[in-house]
Amino acid sequence: MMALPALSRRALFILSGFFALILVSVWTNKLSYDTVETEEASGRTWTEKLCMALAHAPQSSHPSQAVLVEHPKYHKVAVATAFGFHHDVYLTVAWTLKRMSPNLGSRAPAVHVYAKPPFTYGFQDVVEELQLYDGVVEDSDHFLDDFERLSGDDAFDMIVLGTCEFDLRQDRDWHKRLLAAWDKRDDAHKFKIVCIIHDVKESEWLPHLPEWTRRNAIRFLPISEHVGKAYKLMMEEMADSADPVIRSAGFEYIQYDTHVPILDIPRLPERKPDHILSNAVIQGAFFSERRDYKQLFKDLMEDLAKDPSVWGYLPLGDQPSYSVDPQSRSPFHLFLIGSGWLEIPTELKNIVSMHVDLTYNQFYKMMGEMDICIPAFAGEAYFQHKASSTFAMALECDVPILVNRRTRATYTYSDDDRAVVTRPAVMREIAAIRALRTNNASDFLEGDPTGTGVPMSANPLMRAAVQDMLARGWQRSKAEFRQFKEDVWRANEEVMAQILRDL
Ligand SMILES: *[C@@H]1O[C@H](CO)[C@@H](O)[C@H](O)[C@H]1NC(C)=O
Repeated sequence: MMALPALSRRALFILSGFFALILVSVWTNKLSYDTVETEEASGRTWTEKLCMALAHAPQSSHPSQAVLVEHPKYHKVAVATAFGFHHDVYLTVAWTLKRMSPNLGSRAPAVHVYAKPPFTYGFQDVVEELQLYDGVVEDSDHFLDDFERLSGDDAFDMIVLGTCEFDLRQDRDWHKRLLAAWDKRDDAHKFKIVCIIHDVKESEWLPHLPEWTRRNAIRFLPISEHVGKAYKLMMEEMADSADPVIRSAGFEYIQYDTHVPILDIPRLPERKPDHILSNAVIQGAFFSERRDYKQLFKDLMEDLAKDPSVWGYLPLGDQPSYSVDPQSRSPFHLFLIGSGWLEIPTELKNIVSMHVDLTYNQFYKMMGEMDICIPAFAGEAYFQHKASSTFAMALECDVPILVNRRTRATYTYSDDDRAVVTRPAVMREIAAIRALRTNNASDFLEGDPTGTGVPMSANPLMRAAVQDMLARGWQRSKAEFRQFKEDVWRANEEVMAQILRDL
């Protein structure tokens, strides 16, 4: 048996030394899958085949279906969780498996979802409209009973846990009962747990992990690669332990993949090509320790004080709040979409608005109207140990995200000019939006914004970064977003194909 207190201490120690995480760079990703030839090799040129393929390309509700699993090892999948959130994450896994099944034919795995219905914020409507899952979602209270009752070839041989940090926690019985079931099964009927992991700092479940790694019965599936890297670093450090009980647990053999929870949201509005950037959004619960609203408000107020007309507002005069300039074609507006409450400076009362507790469908509709999404991360958490849902939420609604190089390097699936607008770090969000609104960054290109005596143009790389941002602009076309999302869906299918093959 595992020495629990020793591991807990160890885990705490490792967690406290977390700054080291940024140093990880080695990450091998190996994909082996087969593609289905839709046209027989019948003497057509490749351009003809491409044209035919494009003509037959599935429309929006049916993204790519090209990944074939040659010899799936697993045939019956439970997507299960007792946690009341993250349904948009695990049901996207069910959707990926569903898209793959036509190509798998009789080898397609049966998928059953066990969760805590009803889904919050009207997600059931989304499940039905987007047809993420055709079956009936069972109450996860019955999951273990079903799991234990089914045996032989009828038994589940893969379990995707929606929030592993919760589902395998010490104060719950899933770990114990699943482990007993694993040990009871004969070698031909062992199962694998696929752990959707969200946050390295949620460590309560970690003392259970060695039982699963010892049996090579678990693998990790974060929603963004950097969360997997953070876990990997911690696991490799544990694998190096001086304690033989810990280092024999097989932590270094855990497999990591990333499944990005991006859905195919319908009815997203088009933008006119001459549209001026005016709707910015910060999405997420209104916690100042998560997002730096304060600094952003401060930057905005300073910029407004310099020249409110750039933002489409009248000078403050003796009014408490800026008001829209009736002459302005597109006054700037900052939407805060999430939950909670936040104090908004009086000056910004007409510029910043809060939208709370929207259903998913209301959210998609409002998000779709946004021109750009500002992550505004405060601190290191969203870079180092957990993933912000903002990235998937904005990108699935065709809203480009305003990022810097560091954010791109962290959220690797968004490291793509089709989906993000890259600001040089020297320009904070408000400066970048001002420049993109006016197509004018002369303050930065000609001036010495920090007063150091050395103009910014002295650094040609920085200058080029400012110019590149303006040259590319902030608009991303529907076609760019479509291709970006199809690549994400395709990568998700490849990942699930590997997992089904136990590679
Ligand atoms: C760009 O902005 C600067 C002030 O920030 C202004 O002096 C200049 O006239 C603007 N250029 C154009 C082309 O509008």
